[in-house]
Amino acid sequence: MIKFPQNFLWGAAASAYQVEGDNVSSDWWQWEQDAAREHSGLASRHYQLYEQDFDLAKSLNHNAHRLSIEWSRIEPEEGKFSQIELKHYLDVILSLRSRNIEPIVTLHHFTNPIWFAKSGGWQNRRSVARFLSYCEVVTRALAKYVHYWITINEPNVYIYHAYILGIWPPEVKSYLRAKLVEDNFVSAHIKAYRLIDKIYRELGLFNPCISIAQNVMAFVPCTMNLKNRFAAYLRDKWYNLGFLDKIMRHKTMDFVGVNYYSRQLVEVKKWGIANLAMDVCKNNHHPLKKNSLGWDIYPEGLYEMLLSLKKYGLPIIITENGICALDDNLRWEYIYSHLKNIHLAVENGVNVTGYLYWSLTDNFEWDKGFGPKFGLIGIDYNTYKRTVRESARLFGQVCKTGVLEC
Ligand code: BGC
Repeated sequence: MIKFPQNFLWGAAASAYQVEGDNVSSDWWQWEQDAAREHSGLASRHYQLYEQDFDLAKSLNHNAHRLSIEWSRIEPEEGKFSQIELKHYLDVILSLRSRNIEPIVTLHHFTNPIWFAKSGGWQNRRSVARFLSYCEVVTRALAKYVHYWITINEPNVYIYHAYILGIWPPEVKSYLRAKLVEDNFVSAHIKAYRLIDKIYRELGLFNPCISIAQNVMAFVPCTMNLKNRFAAYLRDKWYNLGFLDKIMRHKTMDFVGVNYYSRQLVEVKKWGIANLAMDVCKNNHHPLKKNSLGWDIYPEGLYEMLLSLKKYGLPIIITENGICALDDNLRWEYIYSHLKNIHLAVENGVNVTGYLYWSLTDNFEWDKGFGPKFGLIGIDYNTYKRTVRESARLFGQVCKTGVLEC
């Protein structure tokens, strides 16, 4: 039997665009219309059905829920803020609070308003100021009911897909642009942190708890040669820790938000910066069970990551961890093995204070569409009927007792 610390946050996470539906003013929506891509459409209809989803979360003993605010709803045109949408998100937060579920609010989760994207998105020097005025409006509207804020979700994942691989909007492939966007994200976070903090003081509210959600991967050398070991070291430094180190230097992180899914097998073809940064082994040399997108299931990587994040001396919340699987037994196996590794890290002195499974319901998995099923709760996309999976019930028992039966 494994017992987790008292007052642990237990729950699930989601992002607005992936579940709400009809986010017509978002750059991602526009991108979907441009080509033969799967459209997010009504997504999970969470915008209308959030009460039902939160009732289910409550019935599964969740005491926390991570959600995001869709910027393009709040500010569909530059400088024009929608009171109706602000009220909507206030209602969403209050509906969590009324169920004693702690809201963890993300301000940016991959999507931007169309007007923002059109004027250069995060490459524009003014992006930071634009993001801040949106943050200010949202913070003032919700501060009274929110303690945990995440300014930006996975800047590294967004930059990699949108500005290096160029497979997400705005489809740019340039290291220079990627660096510029990263600098703007760093500055946006630091300034948003200070702004949120200032607003709480002004309003006489208790200190907020602010961070980012950082995607981390276990970088494992495929063969133990010097090139691979060096590349794994570099990737860990750049991809996993680079952004966190920068915002930590400015003392703008109150907890570490960690999103962990998988490992990467590092196999570098030749000495070269792009090779060191990106080459992977495609030969399935060390086969492990995989999720339905082919990502290796590697729970011990989470343990290793947690130990390396200990250096920040801050509480750590697992802000995402999950699996897309058609076999629900595999989902439970995944949750179980990752919880075991989290607990091992706790026993080794890491201060983990929460775990949020990705995701509460099935949702729209970006460029992969509706195929991958990450949800604790399944969705029938014809009727929008929700079905609680067995893995959700087993996880719900852990949420209730704080105990993982071995
Ligand atoms: C993102 C989610 C995404 C999940 C599964 C994370 O990188 O924050 O939006 O659905 O991974 O791919």
